[in-house]
Order: sequence, then C-alpha cells, then structure tokens
Amino acid sequence: MNTKFIYDIPTKVYFGENQLSNLGKEIKQYGNKVLLVYGGGSIKKSGLYEKVMTELIKEGLEVFELPGIEPNPRHTSVNKGSDICKKEKIEVLLAVGGGSVIDATKFIGVGAGYDGDIWDILTKKAEIKNCLPIISVITLSATGSEMDAGGVISNQETKDKIGMFNPLMRPKVSFLDPTNTYSVNEYQTACGSVDILSHIMEVYFNMEDDLFMLDCVMEGLMKTVIKYGPLAIKEPDNYEARANLMWASSWAINGFVMGGRMKAWSCHPMEHQLSAYYDITHGLGLAILTPRWMEYTLDETNVSKFYQFGVNVFDIDKSLSPMTVANTSIELLSDFFFNTLGLDSTLGAIGIDDKHFEIMAEKASQGGTQNGFKPLNKNDILKVFRMCL
Ligand code: NZQ
Ligand code: ZN
Repeated sequence: MNTKFIYDIPTKVYFGENQLSNLGKEIKQYGNKVLLVYGGGSIKKSGLYEKVMTELIKEGLEVFELPGIEPNPRHTSVNKGSDICKKEKIEVLLAVGGGSVIDATKFIGVGAGYDGDIWDILTKKAEIKNCLPIISVITLSATGSEMDAGGVISNQETKDKIGMFNPLMRPKVSFLDPTNTYSVNEYQTACGSVDILSHIMEVYFNMEDDLFMLDCVMEGLMKTVIKYGPLAIKEPDNYEARANLMWASSWAINGFVMGGRMKAWSCHPMEHQLSAYYDITHGLGLAILTPRWMEYTLDETNVSKFYQFGVNVFDIDKSLSPMTVANTSIELLSDFFFNTLGLDSTLGAIGIDDKHFEIMAEKASQGGTQNGFKPLNKNDILKVFRMCL
C-alpha cells in the first residue's frame, strides 16, 4: 500500500442551533459589502431570511441581494450575480440555501474577477484566477457544497451541466444548523439522502489500495443515512435525524474520505446528463441510476467490494456466497430508495424516454472512456440508461 494525499479542508463550521449570532462578525473579517444570494423563497417562508438580515444589520454591513437562484442553477443567474459584484464592489458573498444556491455563489465569486461569461470558465476556455470569500448557511442536507470546493452549473441553451472543483471556491465559514432543514419536504429529504449516499459510494466502490480506516468511516456514514433519512421523513423536526444527515452530508464529499483514491466517479456524470436535459432533481436521478449501474458493473473481479458493502452496510449474512451478498445488497439498496424513501424507480415513471440517450451517453463519457470503478464507454452508459427505462 502506498497511500498518498494532502489533507486541506479549511472551512470553519458553526454546527448546531443559535449560532447565527456569529454570522456578522465572521462576514466582517472579509469586508463590509455583502451580496446575499438565495433561492426561490424557502428562506422567507421559514423565517431564516429575517434572522440573517437581523444579524447583518446589527453588524452594520451593507447588504445587496440576489434572490431566485434555481435548483440546477443556471449560468445566466451566475452572470447576474457577478455583474452585481463588479458594479457594487462586493467584498464578500453570503449564500443562504441548498446546494444550488451555494454552487451558484461559488461561481459568482469566480465571475466577479473575470471579464466575460462564466460559461467560459466552466468550458475551460478561461481559468479560475480568484474567488471572492464565501460564507454559507446551508438549509438542505445533500450536496455537501457548504464544505467542499466544487460546484455544478447548468446551461439551458446548450443542455449542458458542468461541475468543477477549485480550492478557491471552498466556503471560508459555514453555518450548519439542523433546525434550518426542518422545513425540507419529504421528497427533497429523500433526494438529499440519496445524494449523500451516492457521494460516498462513488468513492467507496474502488479497487485501489487505501486505508481500511477510510472504508470504515464511509460504512459508518452510509449507515447513518440509511438510519436517519427515513426518520427525518417521518419526523421532519427530529433534531437528531436532521443533525446526523447534515454532518454526514458535509463529510461525504469534503475530500476526507477520498484519501488518495483517484478513480473517476460513475453515476454522477450520468446523472448530470439527466438533470441537464430534463431539469430533474439530482438525487432522484441518482436513485434511479445507482442500482442499475451496480447491476451492470458487478462481476467476479469486483464482487469482493459489493460483498464488503453488503455485509458492513446492510448487515447481510457474511456466510452467504459473495455473489449472493452482492446481489442482495443491490436489492436492499433499491428497496431503500424506492420503498423506504418512496422515490420513483424508473425514468419512464418521470416521463423520460430514450430520445436523447445517444447524445447524453456521448457527453457523459466525454467522447472516450470514463475510468471509474469499472471503465464505462459510451455504449456501456447507453446500456445503463436503457436499464433505467
Ligand atoms: O429555492 P428555494 O426556495 O430555497 O427551495 C429549494 C429548492 O426548491 C428547496 N429548499 C432548500 N432548502 C429548503 C428548501 N425547502 C424548504 N426548506 C428548506 N430548508 O429545495 C429545493 C432544492 O434545492 P437545491 O439547492 O437545488 O437542492 P440541493 O441542495 O440538492 O442542490 C442540488 C444541486 O447541487 C448540485 C446538483 O447537481 C444540483 O445542481 N450538486 C452539487 C455538488 C457540490 N457542490 O459538490 C455535488 C453534488 O453531487 C451535486 O451535483
Ligand atoms: Zn451528488
């Protein structure tokens, strides 16, 4: 074994209730002119907007606002935000919302220092040179954007959805108050739980050498989601359930569990095509894809990883044959997504047919082979999409 990596996760986290009193002073460290970015209104309904504004005013900050960030945030909204930053000489960005709001804010921060369309950056025609400091108040446990260095932006005109990581975009400070997720509905709680699980599975399903310790951490995180996702759906204001989901979602993707693993992800590139073409919720697309990807991928060369997953995450009898455990783990995961969490189980059920599969598979494989747990070329991806119908 020759595990090698850099640990560098500098986001400062305020976890728990009533921590917002620290918001103003944290922002002030970075400047006085703040752009508050939020979504379609959930923070106004929940009362969080008022609480945030009270803190900002108390600290004497000058506040500008950009509401209306869409789920699957659009590059046009990002450009709008960057324009405000340039015009008003914004010094610090405050994102209050789900992953879409935080992702958009990251690219607003990048665009503030770029003289052109943010899509140039996402399509690698231009480089990320800097990013305004970002502070976040997360309201949905799913993406981990509050503690990671990535973001995903959609272009409605070209039907593209592109993700990018850069350490400059990692939030400086994030407020993780589980009570801010009490108002998340059943559907978004279910989709968020799937997204957290998927972030872990994308790393866990890997045959590279790595630290046993990290596998144990990932198994613990997956068990946490399987235990608390359904509880949060049943009891939306159960603090223990919301807190466990919230902290698991940050740690699933902040980089810690990756260790030195370098393999590409598998289900995310496929899902991003689904949400690019059909604007569906990211977690729903992942729920439909993941069990099919597992079925397609499982073979004698990698069955040991599925066995480990089945025994350690779903407590399947370890004396059964590896292939039996592997297949049972896929059944149990499907049961969790489609029965326990209540999500639709096929693309057909959400009105998606095979019309765009060719081009989606082409884009997901980037015209070559996606070198994940099992290398997938365009034809492989096409087959997985068809299995989802
Ligand atoms: O827009 P508002 O009104 O705020 O409503 C949102 C939205 O309709 C609502 N919501 C959020 N918090 C709420 C709430 N409703 C009631 N109470 C609350 N407390 O939920 C809806 C979905 O919000 P969104 O931010 O889109 O969800 P999520 O956090 O799942 O973010 C999804 C986006 O993140 C990307 C996805 O592709 C997708 O574009 N991802 C980002 C990643 C990252 N930054 O590293 C990684 C992920 O794999 C993912 O790709
Ligand atoms: Zn995801």
